[in-house]
Amino acid sequence: MTSDAVRLFREHFGRTPDLAASAPGRVNLIGEHTDYNGGPVLPIAITRRTTVAVARAEGWRFISRQEGPAVDVDLMAPLRGDWTDYLVGVVRELRDMGAAPAGASVAVSSTVPIGAGLSSSAALTVSATRALSALAGRRLAPRVIAEVAYRAEHGQVGVRCGRMDQTIAALGRAGHALLFETGSGAITELPMPWRIGVIETGVSHQLTGGELNERRRECEEALRMLQRRWPDLASLAALPAAQLVEAGSLLGERLAGRVRHVVTETGRTRRAASLLVAADLARFGALLVEGHRSLQHEYDSSVPEADFIVDRALERGAAGARLTGAGWGGAVLVLVPPEAERRVLREVLSDFAARFGQRPTAWMTRAAGGLRRERIFK
Ligand code: GLA
Repeated sequence: MTSDAVRLFREHFGRTPDLAASAPGRVNLIGEHTDYNGGPVLPIAITRRTTVAVARAEGWRFISRQEGPAVDVDLMAPLRGDWTDYLVGVVRELRDMGAAPAGASVAVSSTVPIGAGLSSSAALTVSATRALSALAGRRLAPRVIAEVAYRAEHGQVGVRCGRMDQTIAALGRAGHALLFETGSGAITELPMPWRIGVIETGVSHQLTGGELNERRRECEEALRMLQRRWPDLASLAALPAAQLVEAGSLLGERLAGRVRHVVTETGRTRRAASLLVAADLARFGALLVEGHRSLQHEYDSSVPEADFIVDRALERGAAGARLTGAGWGGAVLVLVPPEAERRVLREVLSDFAARFGQRPTAWMTRAAGGLRRERIFK
């Protein structure tokens, strides 16, 4: 099937693109705000994807089906403060490596909801890195692509994210979750047998310069304070849980909460990985809920809409539910025994509508594959 990005490319540029690549959004099962603190994360790639179709050209012209009309971009000009920044970031990073084409026409189309905490930006930067480097005749390894995409978002656009999103978008594997230990870089693929429900809160977040950056600053400040007591402490995730009480006494209440979240979330994520291997739905689900409570009360990254969905999902029979991604809006993942899937989601949606006056968008997904080159049908 011809992808929509290829169709858009033809409509707008009046020719067939030279090549196309696509990358998925993600749902992080657990391990939130650990990736920039040296801890583990446990994401899956999802079936929603972003496709980027490209062809060599004189200058740089970008168009996106979802984000708006064509834009001619000057790579040296200041960033525009919109979606094109992510593409400019990718091109600048590729140029530094000598892996960018001289110019390109780029068409983007995506089924990953934007600003819903499902990593639409990494789906874009990863697929664009693959497509544009291939256009320049380079074949970069998936890990290198993830790193280029990370630098584009972190260094160029200025979102102080960790490496989870780009890594899962590049390396995701169908039917599997990735246990990614960000401290060591180790990646283990674990079978992910269950489908999951995704309920979008409808509260949209804008990460650039916002709460995520502030949390990251708080974590860095807490680490510096703790290093006065424990000079060898490499990251917050490396703090033994047994030292949490003493650590708390060295920090103010706000920073102590951030650190408790990171340390307990690190433990939960590793336990969750073993429970996934054991396919223990009930205990895995319970850990997701503990993780959510920690985001809600210690990390302060949840919103009332997400807390409401989690509470109702549990009352209605879900095995677990949790805000996924950065937070401050975004989406809740709901884990339901297969036989109750439809009923639970339906009931939670009408509970939400009764409380907030509108029915949220919800859908089922499963662990899907990562980055790939797309065939172009002439
Ligand atoms: C965003 C960032 C990730 C990660 C999550 C929180 O999605 O891009 O690197 O920090 O927030 O877990």
